Amino acid sequence: MRETIPLLIDTDPGVDDALALLMAFDDPAHRVVALTIAAGNVGLVHTVANALKLCEVVGTDVPVHAGCPVPLVYPSGDAAFVHGNDGFGDIGYQPAQRAAEHEHAALAIIRHAREQRGKLCLVALGPLTNLALAVRLEPALPSLVARLVVMGGAVTGQGNTTVAAEFNIGFDPEAARVVFEAFPAFEIVDWEAVLRHGFLHAAFEAWLATGDARARFYDAISRKTRAWAGDRRGDHWHSADALAMAVALQPDSSLHSELRHVGVETEGRLTRGATVVDWAGRGGQAANARIHLAVDQPAFEARIRSALGVPVA
Ligand code: BDR
Ligand code: CA
Repeated sequence: MRETIPLLIDTDPGVDDALALLMAFDDPAHRVVALTIAAGNVGLVHTVANALKLCEVVGTDVPVHAGCPVPLVYPSGDAAFVHGNDGFGDIGYQPAQRAAEHEHAALAIIRHAREQRGKLCLVALGPLTNLALAVRLEPALPSLVARLVVMGGAVTGQGNTTVAAEFNIGFDPEAARVVFEAFPAFEIVDWEAVLRHGFLHAAFEAWLATGDARARFYDAISRKTRAWAGDRRGDHWHSADALAMAVALQPDSSLHSELRHVGVETEGRLTRGATVVDWAGRGGQAANARIHLAVDQPAFEARIRSALGVPVA
């Protein structure tokens, strides 16, 4: 039997984070070694509680580590208007029995990177605060991990939180800058790619109706967000973190990617939090990011169905 790939997910659940986590737990080729939790979509108390609850729904006791409650430097607004005040659609779920570990998220990232030297796949689905702290504490972190896959950015400046910034980067631009400057080679699935990989609400509803307990939980926590998205973006539903997870779990599902230098604007009157991509190679800096631009849509959707327990037709 092939050895499973260790996966550490830094996340701020969050409705789309939840779908990505279901996909990760569902994949036999990977084993999730820890969830490290960021503040972002909502406050840290909620994102930690949501991660623990999702683990309970799936039936896993994977360790959950709370991270930084605020961005590195400046305060930021959350996305409760998208995900609900508690980040999981305000359904009033019974809190999980289990509590988070005592070890801080940043320390857990470093420990796992050392223990799984050269093997760990790090997936970042939220603001990069914990990762920035980890790389400051352990500057060798980039050389200790096999991959870093980031859901974040808007590679031609079409943001979703401000005109130019995507939420995860815009929430903590200083952290993103630290990470992007420290890692010589990482991967990005940006917001603009997400918009090219939507799936029909109607199809998604059918999957939710035919899946197992995971689908029933996901149906409940995503209901408000889906209604909100339907009003704004029409008949397609987009799940940013799920798309990033699809690429993390199956690198060959990326059908087109480009290697470029990506920087983060931390100042800028109009552009704080923007990811600035050197598309034309003008800056002279070595490319640091593989930008995934097109993903195998049927494979992506099949993974979602499997993660929801939808029977294979
Ligand atoms: C990202 O922002 C968050 O609201 C989502 O969970 C996702 O990680 C999309 O821009
Ligand atoms: Ca997220």
